[in-house]
Amino acid sequence: MNDASNVPITERLILVVEDSAQIRTVISKALELEGYKTRQGKNGLEGLALLEKETPDLILSDINMPQLDGIEFYKAVRQNSRWTAIPFVFLTSHSTSEDIQRGRELGVEDYLTKPIEPADLVRIINARLYRTAAVEVAQVGKAYLDTVKVLANAIEGRDKYTRGHVERVSTYSLWMAKALNWPAQHIRMLEFGARLHDIGKIVIPSQILNKPGPFTDDEWELMKKHTIAGAKMLQDIAHLRGTLPYILYHHEKWDGSGYPKGLKSKDIPIQGRILALADVYDALTTTRPYHKARTHEEVVEIISKESGMHFDPQLAPLFIQIMNDRKAQAAK
Ligand SMILES: [Fe+2]
Repeated sequence: MNDASNVPITERLILVVEDSAQIRTVISKALELEGYKTRQGKNGLEGLALLEKETPDLILSDINMPQLDGIEFYKAVRQNSRWTAIPFVFLTSHSTSEDIQRGRELGVEDYLTKPIEPADLVRIINARLYRTAAVEVAQVGKAYLDTVKVLANAIEGRDKYTRGHVERVSTYSLWMAKALNWPAQHIRMLEFGARLHDIGKIVIPSQILNKPGPFTDDEWELMKKHTIAGAKMLQDIAHLRGTLPYILYHHEKWDGSGYPKGLKSKDIPIQGRILALADVYDALTTTRPYHKARTHEEVVEIISKESGMHFDPQLAPLFIQIMNDRKAQAAK
């Protein structure tokens, strides 16, 4: 689409196809005054020729035209895979309810009835483009999340002790972020980061990952590398850059005794401090190679004791309160 999700809506290209030169000019002028670029064709054939040259962000077409009418033009546009997603708006005269019916059967949603005030036309085109942009953003966001889930599942598939871990860690972190009133775009990145936090474990051999006994010093040093390895894997993916603090800093500790950098207190990005709570809570409440699952009460006790040592002393009580509340709600 005119290669342009970051082009402002009103700078986008509109193809106007209309056999009346007068109406075509009035419409194009009104759109250009608003900042749109326009291309003009006097029938469907000219419309198709213009589409071959450049792809508009929206097509506005009359229905009754000589040579190739609006309905046939619409069909030809939708048959070409490059053009299937372009929003298409029909411009009809008041007396053509039959045409509207034909268009509806083909799946056309938008109609404008002539004569139309230029101001109304611009308002409707703006609204249509904003709606299209919003749908595109939602679709891209969903595609990203699906990709992230596949990556996260690839890690869980190798580590038999952590099934369901990333989804639960993501849920607990989300509760924290909401309690802290984080804005939507930070919450989105948290959902990605919480799921990807252990992605670097892909570099750890399976026999170490699933080892039932304690690690040797060398094995432990290798395990610790999953933070930096994960960050390196994702650092060049622009839309996942916001996940790096989760991946890098979820094993840092408030007192500076964590890894990989040994950061202290608020030098640890808040993403790492939140994820540390969710990660440890889930690790301790589920069965792992070294321990059986502990109860919620036991884990809350541990987190409380570690507040100010392992965990942020302001965030730990909030986390405990949230988990207690959720536990109480689930028991009802
Ligand atoms: Fe980790």
